[in-house]
Amino acid sequence: MLVCYLTDEPGKIPAIRAALEPRYAVVPRILGHEPVFAPSGVLMIDADLREGARVAQIKDVLSELHSIDERLFVVHRQLHHLVAQAYALGATSVVHSAKEAASKLKEVEAAVRAAQTGSEYAPTGIADSGQVFAEAFSAVARGKPFHLADAETVTSQIIASIGENGLRDWLDNVRKYHEGTFQHCLLVTGIAVAFALEINFAPQDITRLGMAATLHDIGKARIPLSILDKPGHLDRKEEEIMKQHPLIGYDLLKDIPGVSAETLHAVKHHHEYLDGSGYPDALAAGQISDLTRLLTISDIFAALIESRPYRAPLSRQDAYNILCDMGGKLELPLVKAFSKVALTA
Ligand SMILES: [Fe+2]
Ligand SMILES: [Fe+2]
Repeated sequence: MLVCYLTDEPGKIPAIRAALEPRYAVVPRILGHEPVFAPSGVLMIDADLREGARVAQIKDVLSELHSIDERLFVVHRQLHHLVAQAYALGATSVVHSAKEAASKLKEVEAAVRAAQTGSEYAPTGIADSGQVFAEAFSAVARGKPFHLADAETVTSQIIASIGENGLRDWLDNVRKYHEGTFQHCLLVTGIAVAFALEINFAPQDITRLGMAATLHDIGKARIPLSILDKPGHLDRKEEEIMKQHPLIGYDLLKDIPGVSAETLHAVKHHHEYLDGSGYPDALAAGQISDLTRLLTISDIFAALIESRPYRAPLSRQDAYNILCDMGGKLELPLVKAFSKVALTA
């Protein structure tokens, strides 16, 4: 379940993440500075309700979020007299601490699951594919098994969205509303699907590449958040741990019925290069499948146009130039075929 955490104090975010993740996918937003992502799930508001300006900003946010059923306000104990103010603003629940919020969210989650039982679950659009992916990723992070149907849902939604609205729209929306690894996987899948469309893949082949892209970094769900979300460059030891994600992903998926051998190959080998300098197995060119080569190009391009805490996103032109400069690591004709996707799609 997604929790959009809206606050007026960025300093509170780490404690909330520590209390709620990985059970919940927390999307932090700074009140008055960032658009609020809350198509469903829970909106959690933690701001100083004594401040008139804050209250006005909260009213603005809530007036635009009709789809959100659960609005959880955090009102600290010493400001108990503001509980009534929270309800007047539209709170559905009020809690006094992160710990209380965690137990309230469990109740909400149980109620949502009960409501969904027996009903057709057919989400559409960016918000829902993001949520399905985030929930599946969070479940894996908590040690739960991965459901292939979730990846199929996400992939088919992304294919529909790219077909209808194009890649540019997808890139803009994903970068606006998602963060970190969720953002990366959604971007890679969108780019890979656009690539498949560009080279006239048949529908079933678009799905094959899309599925490999959706699943390619699922192993990161088992990488510690202190490394995955580190707001800076990884040191050598951390990098070694991060580099285990293709093998972890392979192990997570290898016994799941319906995961094809080519998907497993792509998950395990999307960081291999044709010149043998990649990982985990330093494969040579002939050992890397065509599907994986397409995925690797999409993956690198996505990573370059994402913003990282330690660098701004590269422009699409600069990112594409880097792909072109990677020499024998990538298949040049494929990089050439990618130019339209990179620069104009
Ligand atoms: Fe990866
Ligand atoms: Fe990746």
